[in-house]
Amino acid sequence: MTTGVSSGIGREIAQFLTERGARVFGTVRDPQSAKAIHGVELVRMDVTEDASVKEAVQNVVGKAGPIQFLVNNAGYALTGALEETSVEEARQQFETNFFGVLRVTNAILPEMRQHGYGRIVNISSALGFVPAPYWGIYAASKHALEGYTETLDHEVRRFGVRTMLVEPAYTKTKINGNSKSARSTLEVYAAERKRVVEVAQQNVESGDDPRTVAEAVFQALTVKSPRLRYPVGQGVALSRLRRFVPAGLFDRNLRKQFQLD
Ligand SMILES: NC(=O)c1ccc[n+]([C@@H]2O[C@H](COP(=O)([O-])OP(=O)(O)OC[C@H]3O[C@@H](n4cnc5c(N)ncnc54)[C@H](OP(=O)(O)O)[C@@H]3O)[C@@H](O)[C@H]2O)c1
Repeated sequence: MTTGVSSGIGREIAQFLTERGARVFGTVRDPQSAKAIHGVELVRMDVTEDASVKEAVQNVVGKAGPIQFLVNNAGYALTGALEETSVEEARQQFETNFFGVLRVTNAILPEMRQHGYGRIVNISSALGFVPAPYWGIYAASKHALEGYTETLDHEVRRFGVRTMLVEPAYTKTKINGNSKSARSTLEVYAAERKRVVEVAQQNVESGDDPRTVAEAVFQALTVKSPRLRYPVGQGVALSRLRRFVPAGLFDRNLRKQFQLD
């Protein structure tokens, strides 16, 4: 099962896994408006609603038996300086990007444990391991997902279940159009926020092909001994830089790249 297949990375993952012979259930919030994907069975699910998640999982298990592969992909981005962001906006971001993953995973785990086999891939981001000015709560939600996934892997490994992180960098999808902005704004951040958000949004427009993410997901799901982290595309170099470049140098380069004052 893959969440959030109405567009972008999720759509590509569902298509790719189907082409490789898997029976794929793809979740969408609005099945009426969702465009069909050849061979993929669409299921209604809003990852922020307990009842919707429970119903979708029961529906899939009823049709196909225990779910072996789960890809938690559904998510959106929230932009704005951290000081401009309300707790409620931050809570909504976490409700989808973090608690959504927890909700879907907890709904699926009992069957996976009993079955004695399962693979769970969480779609994180390069922003799960580097800071992101003006995308701070989004980055925090992905950092939380990284800690959650690494910990879960230790708890469920003895049941034959493994959890992995796929970490795309800028990827060409509808994420810009679907992103939300903090409603209250502060003049002191306005110019820099505009500049940084524009740079990042342009990078998405010229970003990696979502197929590269689907390939990494396929590898994580099928390789005999999975790694915890699968950085993708431009994320591969960034992940190395983060690990091996001294913190001060990394900090200066990040500020230079985003032309921070
Ligand atoms: N594009 C990038 O540069 C990039 C980089 C790193 C990581 N990512 C991550 O990749 C994942 C997919 O993003 P994308 O780039 O493919 O963006 P996208 O084209 O906007 O797709 C997002 C998907 O998430 C679904 N979704 C959003 N909120 C949901 C909810 N409450 N319940 C169920 N589904 C929900 C959307 O479905 P609806 O049609 O129902 O809205 C849509 O199918 C996200 O987790 C994102 O953080 C993206």
